[in-house]
Amino acid sequence: MNVEAMKDAAGARAAALVTADMALGVGTGTTTERFIRALAASGIRPQVVVPSSLATGRALAAAGFAVHEPAGVRRLDLYVDGADEIDPALQLIKGGGGALVREKLLATIAERFVCIADERKLVPALGTFPLPVEVVPAAVAAVAERLLGLGDAVTPRTGFVSDNGNRILDVTGIDLRFPGEVEALLDSIPGVVGNGVFAHRRPDLVTVGQADGSVREVHRPV
Ligand code: 5RP
Repeated sequence: MNVEAMKDAAGARAAALVTADMALGVGTGTTTERFIRALAASGIRPQVVVPSSLATGRALAAAGFAVHEPAGVRRLDLYVDGADEIDPALQLIKGGGGALVREKLLATIAERFVCIADERKLVPALGTFPLPVEVVPAAVAAVAERLLGLGDAVTPRTGFVSDNGNRILDVTGIDLRFPGEVEALLDSIPGVVGNGVFAHRRPDLVTVGQADGSVREVHRPV
């Protein structure tokens, strides 16, 4: 089975969890696009739909959903999003699409966070995928210098401006044996707006599209 079909399967399983009375948050990325497609096909129109990025807002509008801006939203029933890496404790690296700050915001205010992924995203330990760090423009050089002390290389994402008007630095070689500590440390650096480690808000459930066509549900360990 190809990767696209695995993403379809993971997205469809999450779409089956959505009901019309929900306030729903929607993540960003190619797997999330599959979720949007499956939700649109189901005919269910949640009461409130909140995108984690401008791109997702456009995709939702194109699929016929009325979209609410995150700024006015206090809580969500469900947040559905992809990930770049998922470890056995369901800690994540996210932000490959550069939407990590709004994604973490929506995941944090959601009663339930469901991550959707193909099985290639499951890893024994986080740290191969470059870790995205969102930085205010004025702090790019200073934060890059500081991050060089934590990783092997820091690469500014060329030509990319986040939906919040910020830059992304991708960090490789950072020691992620204790993801929660790294998440907090990075957030404490002046100029950093957010980082792609999701250790404090892990998903409650991951729907994993597998090569044999099935979907495995992995629940967060207590
Ligand atoms: C965007 C994200 C995405 O969820 C992550 O990059 C996975 O994307 P894809 O489903 O395209 O593999 O964090 O900021």
